[in-house]
Amino acid sequence: MYMRNLQLEKQALRLTPPDPCHDFSHTLRVMELAQYIAEIEGGNQEIIYLAALLHDIGRSVKESDRSHAIVGAELAEEILHEFDYPEDIITEVTRAIAAHSKKAGVYCESLEAKILYDADKVDAFGAIGLARLFADGTSRDIPFYKYSAEIEKDMCSNIMEYDQQIIDGLYTPTARKMCEERLQFQRLFFQQMAKEVGRKI
Ligand SMILES: [Fe+2]
Ligand SMILES: [Fe+2]
Repeated sequence: MYMRNLQLEKQALRLTPPDPCHDFSHTLRVMELAQYIAEIEGGNQEIIYLAALLHDIGRSVKESDRSHAIVGAELAEEILHEFDYPEDIITEVTRAIAAHSKKAGVYCESLEAKILYDADKVDAFGAIGLARLFADGTSRDIPFYKYSAEIEKDMCSNIMEYDQQIIDGLYTPTARKMCEERLQFQRLFFQQMAKEVGRKI
């Protein structure tokens, strides 16, 4: 059993950007999802708690052209030392953070790293995933859908195909099941959207 660290949680909150896709509510959801996956798949709960809490703090560093996962792992290492966590815990937590985004090119080695990776991806699926997708699109001036029937079909099927690739790259059966269920909802959502805008998808 591990202890929550409220001071550390406050520091993570301060280091979390306000953008609606990666704000602290995303962090809290990833923490809950990771905990749920770990209850079924196993893993060290303290490492998972700390890794999920700190996984996106690298996004607070704007000037870096490196992956936020690598930057976040370095920041987490400093902070966890300040909080006097044991060296072996710090090593596992920072490895998991560095590996939570494939763009960083770091492979998930431990079960805890795999669970963090998977929990972060589950939050990109379903109703919340679509809300985050549209919020991200809006911030980059991307329309909800395109008026051309052909492009509209492409847009929605592209999202579904991309999401299927993410599911294929997950590590745990528990996360895969969750994402597949959420993908069913996405399919219904896009069908309804197509109906409302008078298009077929
Ligand atoms: Fe991330
Ligand atoms: Fe994340």
